[in-house]
Amino acid sequence: MKVALVTGAYKGLGVEWCKQLAKNGYQVILTAKDLNKAEGAAASLIKEGLEIFPRSLDVTNELELKGLSNWIDTTFGKIDLIINNAGINPKDYADKTKMAKAFHLNDLDAQEVLNVIHINSIAPLLVVKHLRQQLKKSEKPMVINISSWLGSVSKLTFGGHYGYVGSKNILNIFNKSMAYELKDDKIICVNVNPGWVQTDMGGQKAQFTTEQSVTNMIRHVMSNLSLEQSGKFFNYDGTEHPW
Ligand SMILES: NC(=O)c1ccc[n+]([C@@H]2O[C@H](COP(=O)([O-])OP(=O)(O)OC[C@H]3O[C@@H](n4cnc5c(N)ncnc54)[C@H](OP(=O)(O)O)[C@@H]3O)[C@@H](O)[C@H]2O)c1
Repeated sequence: MKVALVTGAYKGLGVEWCKQLAKNGYQVILTAKDLNKAEGAAASLIKEGLEIFPRSLDVTNELELKGLSNWIDTTFGKIDLIINNAGINPKDYADKTKMAKAFHLNDLDAQEVLNVIHINSIAPLLVVKHLRQQLKKSEKPMVINISSWLGSVSKLTFGGHYGYVGSKNILNIFNKSMAYELKDDKIICVNVNPGWVQTDMGGQKAQFTTEQSVTNMIRHVMSNLSLEQSGKFFNYDGTEHPW
């Protein structure tokens, strides 16, 4: 049986990835910073008869990543798919002073911007760093990073928002670089723009439900992936996204 790991997965796009992957026959490791939230989300999916394994994971915590890596080794012996979904957007901060520090030039604070980059751009690499050996044991190892059209230089049409746009843009180039480094291991890594999606981050006016977005990404991107496509940045409809 194939094994998948999803980060930031107790709600939003993450929990929908878990549901649809499990329905597609994967054993799914549902991770969240707070174990109670992971267990709560897993419980309702397990009730539907799905194979879900809740674990705690803050994607910036390498000690937790090491522990998770050991647990995956002894429990499954391999991993076939990683969905690097966890992410933050400073626009959602309840503290608007903190938000401005990653958003507006006059308030800009390097540490606030670096915090967004740590979670959105560097952590996806850390996850792969700690699970590389387990990925290598899969017949077709895949890493899908959830990026954003806001990380596209050519598509950006407004200012500010430095933490988020910068972090997703860095994620795009980091993934391309990682894809080259992992080619000999035959690990396929791609970035995907999920579209504008109805979640806490996307808001309820967004174009797609989480079900529609994840269905699109599975059907048009994940199902057709090959090693030749590693390093690419896709749109949810399977077309290549402009950089
Ligand atoms: N919704 C959209 O329209 C849209 C568009 C483009 C891209 N995206 C991307 O899609 C991904 C999922 O977002 P979403 O829309 O589903 O938003 P969401 O509902 O806010 O989910 C974000 C998830 O990331 C988790 N997270 C944040 N920091 C974390 C950390 N250090 N370790 C582990 N988990 C962490 C959050 O957990 P906590 O609540 O515990 O912090 C939450 O579960 C993100 O990468 C986002 O940038 C979304």
